[in-house]
Amino acid sequence: MARINYIDLPAKHEPLRERLLQVFDRVLAHGQFVLGPEVRELEVRLAKYLGARDVVTCGSGTDALVLALRLRGIGPGDEVITTAHSFIATGNAILLAGATPVFVDIDSDTMVLDAALVPAAITERTRAIMPVHLNGFPMDMGPLSAICDDTGIALIEDCAQAFGSRRDGRGVGTHDIGCFSFHPLKIFSACGDGGCLTVSSEEDAETLRRLRNHGLIDRDHSDIAGVNSRLDSMQAGFLSVKLDVLDDYIAARQANADRYHAELAGLVTLPPKGIDLRCNHSAFVIRHQEREQLRSSLAASGVDSKVHYPLAIHQQPAFAVFAQRSLPVTERVIGEILSLPVSAELSAEEQERVIEAVACSLGKGAESKGP
Ligand SMILES: Cc1ncc(COP(=O)(O)O)c(C=O)c1O
Repeated sequence: MARINYIDLPAKHEPLRERLLQVFDRVLAHGQFVLGPEVRELEVRLAKYLGARDVVTCGSGTDALVLALRLRGIGPGDEVITTAHSFIATGNAILLAGATPVFVDIDSDTMVLDAALVPAAITERTRAIMPVHLNGFPMDMGPLSAICDDTGIALIEDCAQAFGSRRDGRGVGTHDIGCFSFHPLKIFSACGDGGCLTVSSEEDAETLRRLRNHGLIDRDHSDIAGVNSRLDSMQAGFLSVKLDVLDDYIAARQANADRYHAELAGLVTLPPKGIDLRCNHSAFVIRHQEREQLRSSLAASGVDSKVHYPLAIHQQPAFAVFAQRSLPVTERVIGEILSLPVSAELSAEEQERVIEAVACSLGKGAESKGP
């Protein structure tokens, strides 16, 4: 029986092939390969889609986080409160800015930063809070937003996995600064690396445009030490094509997620859902105490699954020095999580096989059901 892949990038791109090749031809013809016309066109479209005042593209999601920290003047001696249950880039960005990450535990149900624990982690050195909308789950920004409004601490949302996710109709990343990744494995992805920031003021957008391009005001003059983190015109053109079909992708993932919810209820712990939530289901993460056994059993049935992520950031060697507090919920949860295939390309038959494989592994499959 054919293996069920967690993700199939060639299959995802095949229907778009002709349109992507047209972009390639167009950019080859005009020759403005970096920050060409496609880039600004994309930024305008993204701002509208995300509900942000403006969008500034850059070289990657990691760069977006570092640029956001630089924009707020955060560096050595400053502390940034974040979660250790994320891709390592969240922590790396804080280190790259020269600041100190302060990891706060997660909420057990949603698996995102527990806002109730944040006030106790604030010190006179805290300069930013960096929540992560992990797995595309749009976390409730109300409590963190209130803390930041009261204290003047910057709010930098890591939306790398949550493009298109909304809560109560409001897009992620629209509270102050949002940072997105266009890595090929993301739902809204380039055919290479890329990223963007959402901002709520013209001034921030202007400064970021300089920071991402050597601090240049014009061709020859620079007033701040910027970096090279510009988006290629080719990638911007590809992203524009993909933006046209994004809502269909998300709808297909949501339908797959709904089916898992209906079929796996009572067997495993399922991710949270709610009518006010539009989750892009960047990953569909189930939880079970016998995760390793379940994973091996799925693999034996030809079903690919992933663990996002087997180590929390504070458990990585580069962060050992920052492991200031214990994170019991994070440490428990990472032993239980398993991401099931949920992509738009997954066929109904394939999903049925995944569901059956999970049920069989837990002794609840068709074979074990009595007459
Ligand atoms: C939560 C999170 N933050 C940041 C990043 C970094 O994005 P990029 O890979 O585009 O640098 C990623 C991407 O993998 C991510 O998942």
